[in-house]
Amino acid sequence: MPTQTGANTGARPRLAAAEVALAVFDSGQAADVALERVCEGMGASKDRSLTRRLVHGLMRDWPMVNAHLKDLLHTPLKPKDRLSFFILAVALSELRDAREPEHAVVHCAVEATRLAKAQHLTKLVNAILRRFLREREALEGQWLGKPVMEWGYPKWLIDAIANDWPDDWVDILAAGNVSPPLTLRVNRRHWSREQALDALSHAGIGAKALEWVGDGVICETRAAIRDVPEFMDGGWSVQDAGAQWALDWLQLEPGQRVLDACAGPGGKAAHCLERADITLVAVESEADRLAQVGAGLERLSLSAELICGDATTPDQWWDGQAFDRILIDAPCSATGVIRRHPDIRWLRQPQDMDALAETQAMLLNRLWPLLKPGGILVYVTCSVLARENHQQVQSFLESHVDAQVLEPPTQPATSQAKPPGRAVSVGWQVLPGEQDWDGFYYAALGRLPSA
Ligand SMILES: C[S@@+](CC[C@H](N)C(=O)[O-])C[C@H]1O[C@@H](n2cnc3c(N)ncnc32)[C@H](O)[C@@H]1O
Repeated sequence: MPTQTGANTGARPRLAAAEVALAVFDSGQAADVALERVCEGMGASKDRSLTRRLVHGLMRDWPMVNAHLKDLLHTPLKPKDRLSFFILAVALSELRDAREPEHAVVHCAVEATRLAKAQHLTKLVNAILRRFLREREALEGQWLGKPVMEWGYPKWLIDAIANDWPDDWVDILAAGNVSPPLTLRVNRRHWSREQALDALSHAGIGAKALEWVGDGVICETRAAIRDVPEFMDGGWSVQDAGAQWALDWLQLEPGQRVLDACAGPGGKAAHCLERADITLVAVESEADRLAQVGAGLERLSLSAELICGDATTPDQWWDGQAFDRILIDAPCSATGVIRRHPDIRWLRQPQDMDALAETQAMLLNRLWPLLKPGGILVYVTCSVLARENHQQVQSFLESHVDAQVLEPPTQPATSQAKPPGRAVSVGWQVLPGEQDWDGFYYAALGRLPSA
């Protein structure tokens, strides 16, 4: 039976990866969402992780693979054969990666084509891949020295990053092509970081405490999250170090009333509640993302007031009680987290940047009046682009004389290391990969007491 043969030869993850690529490139769906759907019911966890690896590899290699397909396919495949086109794309990316034996990659692609019920294309898939192997040097040689091909990003994004970071753009692009570590946040209400590290060590997972992030642990051995002890009992959350550091900028105190204005999927909301006995109002415009906040808090036995609403129109949801702290973890280009979501580079379009900048400015301007005098607003993005970061805050400051830029968090007593990143004209920028953190921008603004 074809399905049986396919499963045995590794065709299934190849087909699944092609289905995800189809969803990303033809429907603009996020790879994580498509992976979740496509891998549902895929029993073996090694098949799931292989599918994920293949998808991520293709996202990083897309311009070169796409160019090869144009060279190798004398006639473009028909629209109905689009899935087979992506089976070929996944296989070319896998051949370039050279992790698996060539004959196995070709065989799996042919079987995946059969599994996709495109038997009429199996000979073509075989022939194209074998031709690639014969002509690889010439096919690749023509693109040498072209940044889009070399780094696997769209030109507009390379230009934007290079414009803002003329000395660092190559490192930023390279960091986006490296698989990130598994970084965890210890739930302080559940246990101490030392206890949590002991439990990991007993489970055979090598890990170390993060220096600048009091609740952070970075895993040194690859581990699936379900193998992490006490994950389902609320001992941990998966969260990058850069995201965790946002909490230190907030300087939470017990009894405070805190607004998390862009809360979904809830990582920082949960961290706030683990850190201090506060009252948290979490606003999120997307219902499904707000549901994720609720589910996450439930897993961790935490609670907050959850509001599905547009944070730029507080008149529609604010009860008039001012906040001691406001966190704006703004929607952004996500250019600091491309190593975790390599599809972002293809999903974001240059025209998105204007809309994002407008929302970020509205969030700052419209939420500022909700902050108590003496309170702190923290503006965070996972972007490396100046326009979304220090330029955005700079222009806010020009029209708000009652806002004062605050210093970065002080060094934890236990740490000797310097935090990653650097001060920019306003706030602090971490670039992706620095001390193995994701790229983040932070600015803390204090509201001066009224005159
Ligand atoms: C960077 S994510 C926030 C991540 C979240 N703070 C966490 O730590 O898990 C930005 C979120 O803002 C939401 N969002 C975008 N525009 C919004 C708006 N106008 N009002 C409220 N939420 C918004 C997005 O749906 C997205 O979930």
